[in-house]
Amino acid sequence: MRELSLNVMDIAQNSLSAGASLIGVEVEEDAALDQLVIRISDNGRGMDEETVRRVQDPFYTTRTTRKVGLGVPLFKMEAEMTGGGLEVKSRPGEGTVVTARFVPSHVDMIPLGDICATMLLLITGNPDRDFLFRWQRNSRGFTLDTRELRGVLGGDVPLDSPDVAEWIGGYLKEQEEALKEES
Ligand SMILES: Nc1ncnc2c1ncn2[C@@H]1O[C@H](COP(=O)(O)OP(=O)(O)O)[C@@H](O)[C@H]1O
Ligand SMILES: [Mg+2]
Repeated sequence: MRELSLNVMDIAQNSLSAGASLIGVEVEEDAALDQLVIRISDNGRGMDEETVRRVQDPFYTTRTTRKVGLGVPLFKMEAEMTGGGLEVKSRPGEGTVVTARFVPSHVDMIPLGDICATMLLLITGNPDRDFLFRWQRNSRGFTLDTRELRGVLGGDVPLDSPDVAEWIGGYLKEQEEALKEES
């Protein structure tokens, strides 16, 4: 994986599998601290302590079709390679928070990639779930909350309808452009 946005997709799939109705994706870039934090949180079924330990182990997965679950361990390794790290916090019945911290100036840093495309795919691919996306770069940032969007659209317009998908894509692109002017 050469883009962190692909890791986000993979970790968010775990949240979807865990039955989460709300998934948060936060990206926080801080140039002064030389830090990039990516946080994926969910209100899914959560994990007990043992599973939290094992999910970070590359040889653990509950899936029987694949012997090795690489989602979390790979993300962790990529963070650690830059001098950062990854933390999993979870409680059965409450949800899970995966926080990865990167040091962007490090030679082994992997580019963030197209995080907006990832969010668009997640949202339109799972119109029955809600997503809270926040991207902060230094002093500038934006939020996309599908719960607010639903409120504006009314109950009968699904998030995967072509017009809505196009609006979301356009909004994300516009906001990303504004962030780029910042730095
Ligand atoms: N966000 C999450 N909420 C609840 N359980 C999770 C979450 N993320 C991972 N898990 C548990 O850890 C297991 C291993 O995850 P992973 O390494 O991604 O492999 P896989 O998704 O192929 O099972 C999952 O099958 C699941 O039981
Ligand atoms: Mg997985």
